[in-house]
Amino acid sequence: MQDLRGKTAFITGGASGIGLGMAEAFGREGMNIVLADIEAGALDAAVADLKSKQIQVAGVRADVTSRDSLRAAALETVARFGKVHLVCNNAGIGAGGQIGGVPERDWDWVIDVNLKGVVYGVEVFTPLIESHGEGGHFVNTASLAGMLSGPGMEPYSATKFAVVAMSEGWAMQLAPKNIGVSILCPGFVSTHIYDGRRNRTEAYGPDPFAANREMATVGKAAIQAGMATSAVGGRVVEAVRDNDLYVFTHPEYRPLVEARFERILAAFDKSAQSPVISALPPREIPGFISEPQ
Ligand SMILES: NC(=O)c1ccc[n+]([C@@H]2O[C@H](COP(=O)([O-])OP(=O)(O)OC[C@H]3O[C@@H](n4cnc5c(N)ncnc54)[C@H](O)[C@@H]3O)[C@@H](O)[C@H]2O)c1
Repeated sequence: MQDLRGKTAFITGGASGIGLGMAEAFGREGMNIVLADIEAGALDAAVADLKSKQIQVAGVRADVTSRDSLRAAALETVARFGKVHLVCNNAGIGAGGQIGGVPERDWDWVIDVNLKGVVYGVEVFTPLIESHGEGGHFVNTASLAGMLSGPGMEPYSATKFAVVAMSEGWAMQLAPKNIGVSILCPGFVSTHIYDGRRNRTEAYGPDPFAANREMATVGKAAIQAGMATSAVGGRVVEAVRDNDLYVFTHPEYRPLVEARFERILAAFDKSAQSPVISALPPREIPGFISEPQ
C-alpha cells in the first residue's frame, strides 16, 4: 500500500505501546486512525494524545478474544470513516512459566488474545477490505519470540510462532485480492507489556498472580530499556509501503535466528545422509505445498 493519505487504519491494542506507536506513525502519514482496545482509560488518553497531534482518530472499546466484539468495532469504523484499508492485529499479552507452573487458564488467555485475536481480526476485516476494491494490508504483530524459543516463554512463543505461520499462509491467500500481509517481529520495545496481566478478564477466573502481576524484574527491565515505540511505528510504515512480509526492528538478533535455521538445515542434511531414509525410493513434493513468497 503506497498511498496512505486519507485511508483508514484499525489498530488493536492501540491504546498503549507498539499499537499506539503505529497509530501515531500512520496518523502522521495522513491516515484516519481507529484505536481498538479493552482498556477504557488508556484508550481515552491515547485518543486525546493523538487528537492533540492533529491526527484524525476515533477510539472503540473492543476485546479481541471475542469475534462479536471485533465485528462491532469494525462496523463502527466503517460507520465513522466509510472504509478500512489497514488492520494492525496487534493486541497481545505475555504468559509463561516452568513446566506445570503455567495456570491452565493462562494458556487459554494467551491463546485467545495473541492467536485467536489475530484470526478474528483477519476473518472480520478481509471481506470489508475486499468490498471496497481499493486493496489493503494486514500487519500482524508477532515477535522475535515467533522466530526464537526460550525456556519459560513457551505459551507466548507458541502463539507468536502461530502468528508467523498463519500470516505466511494468509499472505498467499490474500495477494490475489490485492491485500498485503506483514508480520511484525520486534525484540524488546519500551511498552507496558510487563504488566499485561492488568487486562486478564474475569472470563479466565481469578488471577493466581494478582498480588504480584508484573513480569519478573529482569524481563521488566529489558522491556523498559527497549526500543522506542515511535521507531517501531516508523519501521512498520516503511514495511507497509514496501509490502514486506517479515518486518524486523532489531537487526542485532539476526545471528540468533541464523543459528536456529542452521541447526534446522543441519538436521535436514543428517536425514539425507541417514541410511534408513536414503534407502527409500525418491519422492516428490505434492503440488498443493506452495512456495512461500
Ligand atoms: N514490548 C515488547 O518488547 C514486544 C516485543 C515483541 C512483540 N510485542 C508484541 O507487541 C504487541 C503489543 O504489545 P505492547 O508491548 O505494546 O504492550 P502494551 O501492554 O503496552 O500494549 C498492549 C495493548 O493491548 C491491549 N489489550 C490487551 N488485551 C486485549 C484484548 N483482549 N482486547 C483488546 N486489547 C487488548 C492492552 O490494553 C494494551 O493497550 C503484543 O502483541 C506483544 O506481544 C511486544
